[in-house]
Amino acid sequence: MEQCCSPGQSRYDEAFDARFARQLDRRYRRKGLTGSERRIAERIESEGVEGTSVLEVGGGIGAIQLELLRHGASSTTNLEMSGAYESAARALLDEAGLSSRARRLVGVDLATADLDVSVADHVVLHRVVCCYPDAVALLAASAAHARRTVVFSHPARTWPRRALVGAANLMMRLRGKEYRGYLHRPDAMYDTLRSAGFALDDVIRAGPWRIAAAHRA
Ligand SMILES: C[S@@+](CC[C@H](N)C(=O)[O-])C[C@H]1O[C@@H](n2cnc3c(N)ncnc32)[C@H](O)[C@@H]1O
Repeated sequence: MEQCCSPGQSRYDEAFDARFARQLDRRYRRKGLTGSERRIAERIESEGVEGTSVLEVGGGIGAIQLELLRHGASSTTNLEMSGAYESAARALLDEAGLSSRARRLVGVDLATADLDVSVADHVVLHRVVCCYPDAVALLAASAAHARRTVVFSHPARTWPRRALVGAANLMMRLRGKEYRGYLHRPDAMYDTLRSAGFALDDVIRAGPWRIAAAHRA
């Protein structure tokens, strides 16, 4: 693991802590990819994954990356704001014999830092834009690092969900926590990819998630 430090990192360490990482790890070990993770992995695989590089922003324990490495991706890079996933992620990579093809960076915010993060063929963000205040900046930076495709998920921006996120944020505030959730406007996020030279292929449903896939036009 390579460690860096972005302002605001502590709020992610607090919200996505060792307990959260253990839950993801346990679930993945028992059941494999979730439905939405599978849809994302399949979307990348349909673009051609053999011999390609993958950059995942906020990839947690790296379940999607493991799947893509098993399907022939040559390398993966994971950027995470929380350091809580690293031991579980390393163990999964070691057990699969895939560690040498995976790079993991902690505390690296692609949207704000001038970083040594290489361009990759495919860039993935799953359940991440809703945890980040400036989705447009994060997606613009992601697109700038994508040679071929960007696949990202976001929650549907429905009124019940807006109420839920508002209530959850109020609870965070009352508890003195810095972390907040966000329901960004889907059109603004899709337009960001278009402005960066990508064509939006489709937006599919996977439970509460919408998975948008775009390729460099
Ligand atoms: C809900 S978790 C999802 C983790 C994983 N993608 C999954 O689906 O299991 C959101 C993650 O996004 C990370 N995150 C949010 N903004 C980020 C950013 N700008 N760069 C890297 N990671 C980020 C958080 O640290 C957190 O681990």
